[in-house]
Amino acid sequence: MEREAYERLMKGHLGDRLYRHSVGVAETAAALAVRYRGDRQRAYLAGLLHDYGKAYTREELCQKAELLGLRLDRITLAEKRLLHAPVGAALLQHELGLTDPAVLKAVAYHTTGREKMSLLEKVLYLADLIEPERDFDGVEKLREIAFTCLDAALLAAVDQTIQSVIRRGLLLHPRSIYFRNSLLASLRENGG
Ligand SMILES: [Fe+2]
Ligand SMILES: [Fe+2]
Repeated sequence: MEREAYERLMKGHLGDRLYRHSVGVAETAAALAVRYRGDRQRAYLAGLLHDYGKAYTREELCQKAELLGLRLDRITLAEKRLLHAPVGAALLQHELGLTDPAVLKAVAYHTTGREKMSLLEKVLYLADLIEPERDFDGVEKLREIAFTCLDAALLAAVDQTIQSVIRRGLLLHPRSIYFRNSLLASLRENGG
């Protein structure tokens, strides 16, 4: 499928607000990919498609996960905020025929992060947080470091996510902790 066809499809699937967010993420991810010598087109596509699962309710996502035989942990199943990522990736494969494993992984892990993320996975995780429509305390600072040091920006991003999860009394996924620790370890190794 061509980029324009994906754009048309996502616009109808997501509705205006979420579509605007997705285009913001796509453009930010593409800019980050250029900055860190990644694949610009893949980053754009991952950004455009990353919230495909968000068009469904938690119950619908649970049903679809079961139909597809996805094995998901209890924490993921309990929170739509987490669930839309892995189920969305599986649906992109089954409903849209998307086969690129790099894009599918980036979508699947965009809410929790994980250890040893690829450049594309990192770029999508960060772009989701700093796209132009995001407005939270510290987002400007985060946008600045995003283009200076990717891992430092990711650490600030995951810290911000974990703090907001705690403040709002939500379930914290252990993969986010592994993600944070791996970023700290690599920053320390590189003297950061
Ligand atoms: Fe999302
Ligand atoms: Fe998003």
